[in-house]
Amino acid sequence: MNILVVGNGGREHALAWKLAKSPRVERVFVAPGNAGTAIDAENVDIAANDFAKLIKFAQQNDVGLTVVGPEVPLAAGIVDAFAAAKLRAFGPSKLAAELEASKVFCKNLLRQADVPTADAQAFRNPAAAARYLMSREDVPVVVKVDGLAAGKGVFVCGKRAEAVAAIERIGEGTEFGEAASQIVVEERLDGEEVSVLAITDGRTIVTLPPCQDHKRAFDGDQGPNTGGMGAYCPAPVVDERTMRVIEEQVLVPTIHAMKRSRRPFRGVLYAGLMMTNQGPKVLEYNVRFGDPECQPLLMRLESDLLDLLEATVDRRLEEIDPPAWDPRPSVCVVMASDGYPGAYKRGQPIRGLDEAAKLPDVKVFHAGTATMDGQVVANGGRVLGVTAVGTTISAAKRQAYTAVKCIRWDGAWCRKDISDKAVASFGS
Ligand code: AMP
Ligand code: GLY
Repeated sequence: MNILVVGNGGREHALAWKLAKSPRVERVFVAPGNAGTAIDAENVDIAANDFAKLIKFAQQNDVGLTVVGPEVPLAAGIVDAFAAAKLRAFGPSKLAAELEASKVFCKNLLRQADVPTADAQAFRNPAAAARYLMSREDVPVVVKVDGLAAGKGVFVCGKRAEAVAAIERIGEGTEFGEAASQIVVEERLDGEEVSVLAITDGRTIVTLPPCQDHKRAFDGDQGPNTGGMGAYCPAPVVDERTMRVIEEQVLVPTIHAMKRSRRPFRGVLYAGLMMTNQGPKVLEYNVRFGDPECQPLLMRLESDLLDLLEATVDRRLEEIDPPAWDPRPSVCVVMASDGYPGAYKRGQPIRGLDEAAKLPDVKVFHAGTATMDGQVVANGGRVLGVTAVGTTISAAKRQAYTAVKCIRWDGAWCRKDISDKAVASFGS
């Protein structure tokens, strides 16, 4: 079977790399892809939002399954467009993708389904949101724009004045466009954050091992929020018992509520959770694999990913064996370009990729890379996801950083403490 992966990040490189290992897969295309997917698969020069061209390409190239990486085409209805053309695509419909694309929709659904989450209020009018804050006790809150904002629409605030300033910034500018048509003000939760991803066909749920992302730019969880500076899997903060609680109190009721709302969910349901003193609470849902969580997850997956994704699309997930996992943990360190998550340069040649690739138990996934004059160059903020497995989390970390040391370009940097949280609380 031929496969088309839509997107161009580290997540899509990992998906294409893993799918290409399936004995049932002939060719893997990635649209538009990066320099890494050009090596492990074949790049197709079509943007992720050009549905008409993607559909035509899939029809002309005998594509049996399209796998959509990012949230933006999902929220714009790519899976519905493919279905209308009688093509199979992995991911939720436009209506189901609202779980990520509208925080107000998500909050309402969580409330209906009685899923633990932060208390929240939604406002159409920024002035009303500010008045609400002034009328309450001065407690830490989080201010969020309703729609997709590539992680930039969330303001975690301490004092009331900070929250009011965030609301003013959202209300005044054109920064967030339509995404800011509603504002959510919610209680700030404390605890450790984890990502629990599940694959579901709307009836059966296959929960994947828990991961932990590192969202802040700098060591010790300091600095601005980013798309994610590294991740590891499994996250020992979620033990077996907690995982059952998350399945029973979070994932299952959400899937049922989506079905009842006539928005059956098929694809990856990614719960961003805070482990609070009162148990796990949902911070947000994503409707796709996490980036970078996908990289350490797929590094450990021993089963055929195509079997899982196909069974999901065909609604027969209950018929297949649960996936098998490498018992060894994995760690992914994101290498970024100077300036990220702000402005950064492009076009610097990257050296040492061959040397890193020779190390055992290592895979360097590309994110923001391109090929220029036969040379791999930096072409984004997050450039590479250097991923390794090891007998312990510490060993996986050491191996990932050994590979990081081989690689250099002008302006390259990374966090030095990816996975330390796990080791600090649980030993290696
Ligand atoms: P979201 O896009 O809703 O996941 O928010 C992005 C990040 O903001 C999360 O990964 C958390 O680190 C933080 N965050 C969001 N909501 C809350 C909350 N209610 N309490 C504390 N932190 C939060
Ligand atoms: N790593 C966070 C995300 O994919 O949204």
